Amino acid sequence: MSNPVIQQQIEYYRLRANEYDEWLYRVGRYDRGTALNQQWFDEIAIVQSALHQLEPVDHILELACGTGIWTQELLKLGEKITAIDASAEVIELNRQKLNSPQVTYHQLDLFQWEPKEKYDLVFFSFWLSHVPSSLLTAFLQKV
Ligand SMILES: C[S@@+](CC[C@H](N)C(=O)[O-])C[C@H]1O[C@@H](n2cnc3c(N)ncnc32)[C@H](O)[C@@H]1O
Repeated sequence: MSNPVIQQQIEYYRLRANEYDEWLYRVGRYDRGTALNQQWFDEIAIVQSALHQLEPVDHILELACGTGIWTQELLKLGEKITAIDASAEVIELNRQKLNSPQVTYHQLDLFQWEPKEKYDLVFFSFWLSHVPSSLLTAFLQKV
């Protein structure tokens, strides 16, 4: 059984699944105004650009994949993607958004998971801040 903070984080994103994209795309109550929104989108564009400078690969592992905002970018880079998240709700949104046979989903707690194979690229975004400091080394070793 993982610790209470991990369980709270999982529950939090299950409940927020339907509004997650509104947060990222700064819609409705997440609208921070023109200037701050632009700064936010400019920063996202920098990450997108860095990602697309990578060479194409065969198999990508995406940890804490969420609703697919980055999975859709990874699809331009990889032949197949294994996408992991603890929330069935966000996985379902991801699946509906991408509708891609190239993506295989697994619903599981990353802190309880051991990889069974090697991947050509491992990607995670908006995730490291969720790793409790006591588990950071173990998580990075797993990566
Ligand atoms: C801030 S969101 C980031 C989602 C996605 N990477 C993105 O950038 O759009 C954090 C994600 O981590 C997932 N998550 C939280 N705790 C988890 C855990 N213990 N194992 C796997 N996924 C977890 C949540 O369900 C959520 O989708």
